[in-house]
Amino acid sequence: MDYKAYIAKHINAEGISAEEIAGAIAVPPDPALGDYALPCFKFAKTMRKSPVKIAEELAAAYPTDGVVESVGALNGYLNFKIAKSGLAEETIRRIEEEGSKYGSSDMGMGKTVCIDYSSVNIAKPFHIGHLSTTVLGGALYRIFKALGYKVVGINHLGDYGTQFGKLISAYKRWGDRETVQKGGIHAVNDLYVRFNNEADEAMEREAREYFRLIESGDPEANALFEWFKELTLEYVKTIYDRLHITFDSYAGERFYTDKMAPVIEELRQKGMLVESQGAQIVDLEPYGMPPCLILRSDGASLYATRDLAAAIYRKETYDFDKCLYVVAYQQNLHFKQVFKVLELMGKEWAKDLVHVAYGMVSLEDGAMSTRKGQVVWLEDVIRRCVEKAYAVISEKNPALENKEEVAEKVGVGAVIFGALYNNKIKDIVFSYDKALNFDGETSVYVQYTCARARSVLNRAEESGIGYRGAKIAEPNASESELIKALAEYPDVVKGAAENYEPSMIARYAVGTAQKFNKFYIESKIMQAETDDLRAYRLALTDAALITLKNALGLLGIGVPEKM
Ligand code: ARG
Repeated sequence: MDYKAYIAKHINAEGISAEEIAGAIAVPPDPALGDYALPCFKFAKTMRKSPVKIAEELAAAYPTDGVVESVGALNGYLNFKIAKSGLAEETIRRIEEEGSKYGSSDMGMGKTVCIDYSSVNIAKPFHIGHLSTTVLGGALYRIFKALGYKVVGINHLGDYGTQFGKLISAYKRWGDRETVQKGGIHAVNDLYVRFNNEADEAMEREAREYFRLIESGDPEANALFEWFKELTLEYVKTIYDRLHITFDSYAGERFYTDKMAPVIEELRQKGMLVESQGAQIVDLEPYGMPPCLILRSDGASLYATRDLAAAIYRKETYDFDKCLYVVAYQQNLHFKQVFKVLELMGKEWAKDLVHVAYGMVSLEDGAMSTRKGQVVWLEDVIRRCVEKAYAVISEKNPALENKEEVAEKVGVGAVIFGALYNNKIKDIVFSYDKALNFDGETSVYVQYTCARARSVLNRAEESGIGYRGAKIAEPNASESELIKALAEYPDVVKGAAENYEPSMIARYAVGTAQKFNKFYIESKIMQAETDDLRAYRLALTDAALITLKNALGLLGIGVPEKM
């Protein structure tokens, strides 16, 4: 049941709609106050009464029934206690019934969300700087899908620019087919780095000329470019597979080569293009921003030009309700400019473009730079995490079967969770030790909790004890806390979508795992006093396992059966 909607329906506050009330209802931080609370401050103006008075009057008028056990007013808040066994019954039954679908809904039915994420640069290293966009975007992709939206995952490949001219120049000078084919992206990157270290003026000129050849459709230059692109994509796909990331489109910057001219024409016709020092720009000074560069003085297009074309193309192709750009906050200005230009062009849908900005990830031990070749490859971070996971689980449980498989889930999970646990805008420093701490706020803690739940259920099943559909008992304190958390899950998923904040699910998973462990320690499950009580606690264990698995699943993290 949607308790917020249920409560709202039973409140009669003059001039305030049930939706507004439901939207204002929250879960109080201190469970002693109640299961749900309605702050009345917002209504003071409309109702022309003090919040304290509003809360008191509404509390007195609230009809008690089997669902809401008690209602109280305190300091301008209306506090509700839900009948415990009713909530337990309802929540456990719902989770049993919905299983892996628990948390999903159809609220997004008929709506389309485009998500531009990961968007790696061809022929450059897939480094730790791309971790957040990849896993954040991947999580948002699954979250919106679970909520019934049609989702289009777009990898806006960085496959356009003079670096490809440099690469061809370097390859012709120092490369050979076999080494590059064998070495893949690493060999390609070595060439790029060497070019940047050794290039003089003549080589730079040559690189620009090669880029021009790509642009003008020269077959040899294009064949080389396509080859470098293929090598890069082959490689990044192996990483996407491990992180459980998929895309519906790989239309990168180059895809828009022939789609920019109409946009530039439209800008010109609308009188928005201004010449400035030979370049073509859109003046954004009235909006407190530097100009948006559309064409350089040599006629070349820019990153922003391609993004303008891309946004228009996406609107025409997918007719999105929202288009998200999961890109680091360093590009705040870029997106503000692009969105503004589209708005000025009269695209009313410009308001549906959202820059989902996130902070930097660095490792405990130092910085990186692509040009000088000192860069932390994402592949290495994953490998180290999986190796470490292997060591940790071997030590904890030497007899464990499929250690490799478990280590993959735990290690990859730690990388993903490490990038998702904090509010996305925060800069984070990734620590291997912290990410793999069994007792920390980590994915491995949640995974271990799941394995623990699984093992109790297995023991029951092996002894022929059933629990699905078990009679629900009156919950004790720790059971009640756990049940409340489980009941909240669908709202958490919705909140994560509304705020573009998968960290809400990551935090929820840790909090719920903690509540499960408290229950696990405090309530005897297999040793319960009666058969009924045991079946009920097993059913609760099952419900917790399903919910935690679903939560981690939305983040792209698998759950091992045993650990
Ligand atoms: N390739 C860019 C980078 O690595 C990110 C592209 C983001 N998407 C976009 N539509 N601009 O910085």
